Amino acid sequence: MNRRFVITAGPTREFIDAARFISNPSTGRMGFAVAAAAARRGYETVLVAGPCSLPTPQGVERIDIVSARDMQKAVSDVLRPEDVFIAVAAVADWRPESVFPGKLKKEEMSPVLRLVRNPDILLEAKAAVKIGFAAETGPGIIANAKEKCRRKNLAMIVANDILETGAGFGGTTNHVSFIFPDGRTKAFEMAGKDEIADSILDECEGLCV
Ligand code: C5P
Repeated sequence: MNRRFVITAGPTREFIDAARFISNPSTGRMGFAVAAAAARRGYETVLVAGPCSLPTPQGVERIDIVSARDMQKAVSDVLRPEDVFIAVAAVADWRPESVFPGKLKKEEMSPVLRLVRNPDILLEAKAAVKIGFAAETGPGIIANAKEKCRRKNLAMIVANDILETGAGFGGTTNHVSFIFPDGRTKAFEMAGKDEIADSILDECEGLCV
C-alpha cells in the first residue's frame, strides 16, 4: 500500500499572556507510537506534534507546533486528499479571546477569562481515510464515539476512558475500543501503547485496501 500517513499528537497550548497558557496532560505517547508503527511498516509518515518531550521516531518527519491554530495550519499545509489522517492530538477546544504580549501582573488580571472556540482540525481535514480518538469519561463512551465518528466522517474512532487506571493520558498503556460508523465495535484488552498502535495500523491497512 503506497499511502502517506499524517498523524497529530500531544497537547496544544493556548497562551493567555507571555507566561501562562491553557493546556491538558497529554504527553504525546499514543500519537508518537502510531507514527512509529506507520514508519516501521515503511509508510511515509508526517507527525504534527504539540509540545512533547519525546524523541522523534525513526523515519518520521516531525513538525512541531504550539497552538491549535498552528496545528490546523501545519495539517492543512501538509495533508493531501489521498493521505490517511490519524488525529491523536488532545487539541484544546478553546483559546483565550486575546493574548497579552507581555506578562500580566496578577493585579492586572481579571478573574474571568474570555474564551473562543478553536477550529476542529479533524472535522475540517480532507483525507482518504480519517481516524479519530475520543478521550471520554463515564457512561455513554461508546454512544458518544459513534456519534463523533458519523459527524466527523471517520472510518474509525479509538475510544478510551481517561479516568480508568492504565488508560489515557500519560502512561505507557491504554485500554481502547475501535468504533466504526456502522456501529460495529472491537474492544481490546489493556495493552502497551506500542501494541495498540500496531492494532490501529492493522485496522488501517484493512480499511485502505
Ligand atoms: O470532539 P472531540 O474533541 O472529542 O474529538 C476528538 C478527536 O478530534 C480527536 O481525534 C482529536 O485529535 C480531534 N480534534 C481535532 N481538533 C479539535 C478537537 C479535536 O482534531 N479542535
